[in-house]
Amino acid sequence: MTFDFDATIDRRGTGSNKWTRYPADILPMWVADTDFAVAPAIVDAVRRRAEHPVFGYAVAQDSLRAQIVTELRARFDWVISPADIVLLPGVEPGFNMAMKAFLRPGDSIAVQTPIYRPILRAPGHWGLTRRDIRLDPGASGDWALDLAQFETQMAGAGAFLLCNPHNPSGKVYSRTELLGIADICARHDALIISDEIHGDLVFDGRVHTPIASLSPDIARRTITLMAASKTYNIAGLKTAFAIITDPDIRVRFEAHRLGMVDSVNLFGLVATEAALAGGAEWRDAQLAYLQANRDVLVETIRATMPGITLHAPQATFLAWLDCSALELGEEPHAFFLRHAKVALSAGNEFHETETKDFVRLNFGCTRATLLEGLDRMRQSLQRR
Ligand SMILES: Cc1ncc(COP(=O)(O)O)c(C=O)c1O
Repeated sequence: MTFDFDATIDRRGTGSNKWTRYPADILPMWVADTDFAVAPAIVDAVRRRAEHPVFGYAVAQDSLRAQIVTELRARFDWVISPADIVLLPGVEPGFNMAMKAFLRPGDSIAVQTPIYRPILRAPGHWGLTRRDIRLDPGASGDWALDLAQFETQMAGAGAFLLCNPHNPSGKVYSRTELLGIADICARHDALIISDEIHGDLVFDGRVHTPIASLSPDIARRTITLMAASKTYNIAGLKTAFAIITDPDIRVRFEAHRLGMVDSVNLFGLVATEAALAGGAEWRDAQLAYLQANRDVLVETIRATMPGITLHAPQATFLAWLDCSALELGEEPHAFFLRHAKVALSAGNEFHETETKDFVRLNFGCTRATLLEGLDRMRQSLQRR
């Protein structure tokens, strides 16, 4: 089967967050969903379910749990049991629940910065002290982990929130790096909360390694958060899941739904199962398209906007652009919004003080849209 990722789909007027926030003359390249039509297998399953006229409260069926177990074994060589899976209305509620359940106000949690804003802000919701592990692209642009810094920041910390693949850098952590992280977390007896929502969107033949899959000991201190939402463009259906192999940790985690993290969306459950059962061909085709978009993006920026530094993302459909050398005299997000009519994510969403000269660009769009956005940006810089 072939899938047309070049098809232009008008998302205006559909309640899309991405396409509603800005006026019609602005090209939105910000919030992390893609502009691609969802895999036919998912649309069919949701349509079939919608034909049943009752949409009451839903629970995960055994078939969905079995599908997740099969998926994790096939893709990541990770063997879990159906009981390890906790369905959630999102990864974001999942990491907030984990912080509330396992840390007390005043405790510390380490996070990699820059980082996706809801992670940056979550420690503050629960009175926790955030310890920043500052990521650096290094000369090779590999964002190699500085283990010495990591060790220092983990001293006395109750938990580490790992984001792998990382948003916004697109870094994929290697097995060796993950073993180093796990070793330090074990020595400090810290919980690992591992946000792996982008784990399927990994380029250049790299493999995603769930940190909990490295050993049963590591799994016992880890809450892994996953979803089909980024991979299959179903984020609006608000469905995710945690994998927690330690029964005590799982019970304590579940107890912290606290009336806020209630049952999961009926259609999200249906869509997640259909995605895992029948979406692989679409997923692989999309990955190839995204990787080609990534290449076009990197080449175009290097050739036409050399004042912007971009290290090719190893995963995700997000690119982290360092605009500091442009010396725009204002935040690049504001500059490109006004002068290029392109809406990017502002750098200061990813760290309060250190990343105001960055923007994050979402290349989960048609090639034509990507080229249009880049051309608008290039022209705006030329007109300066
Ligand atoms: C790293 C990361 N975690 C979590 C989320 C949000 O997940 P959810 O919509 O399942 O809460 C995103 C969305 O962009 C993300 O990039």
